[in-house]
Amino acid sequence: MSTSTPELSFPPASTMEILYTKEQIAQRTREIGAQITADYAGQSIVLIGVLKGAAIFLADLARAIQVDNTFDFVAVSSYGRARVSSGAVKLIKDIDNPIEGKHVIIVEDILDTGLTLSYLRGLMLQHKPASLKIATCLDKPERRLVPIEADYVAFKIPNQFVIGYGMDYAERYRGVDDIRLFPDEAVGH
Ligand code: PRP
Repeated sequence: MSTSTPELSFPPASTMEILYTKEQIAQRTREIGAQITADYAGQSIVLIGVLKGAAIFLADLARAIQVDNTFDFVAVSSYGRARVSSGAVKLIKDIDNPIEGKHVIIVEDILDTGLTLSYLRGLMLQHKPASLKIATCLDKPERRLVPIEADYVAFKIPNQFVIGYGMDYAERYRGVDDIRLFPDEAVGH
C-alpha cells in the first residue's frame, strides 16, 4: 500500500555546518544582556518568550540580565514547516499576567518574515505596556514581508535554514547547542 506522506529525513546535527558555536552565542547573549541591563537600570522588566523556539534563548538571556525581571510566554500558530508563510498568525496561548504599565521585551529565536512579531507587537500594545521592545537571537532581514525591526539582535543572517538553540526542523534539533545550517537536500517537500 502506498502512502502520500513523504518521509522526512533527520540527518545527525553533527554532520551539519556550524553557523554559530555555542561560545559565540553565549558571548552575544552576554552582550545583549549587558545592554538590556544598562537600558533598564533601576527598572523591572517582563520578558515574554514566544513558544517554543525562544525558550532556550530566553533562559540564557534572562541569566545575562541584571535587572529585576519576570517571565511570561505566548504561543502562536505556526505557519508550518514549509518555509513559505501563509500570512495567518493566531494566538494559541496568551500571557498569564497583566502587562499594563510594565516594561516589556518580547523574546524570539528568529525574526523572519516579521508576521509573527508584527502580530504580537500589535496584540501586546493593546495591553498598554509602559514600553515594548523586541529581542531576537537571529534576524533574517532578506525575508521580511512586513516592516518590523528588533531592538536587540544577536546575529543577522542570510536566508538560510537553520536549526539548533531552540530552532527546529519538524520539531527536531531544538536541543542542539550550536546554530547549524540544515542541508537543503534533506528538506522534505
Ligand atoms: C518561528 C520563530 C518565530 C517565527 C518567526 O516559529 O520562533 O516565532 O517562526 O517567523 P516570522 O518572522 O516569519 O513570523 P515557528 O512557527 O517555527 O514555531 P516554534 O517557535 O515553535 O518553532
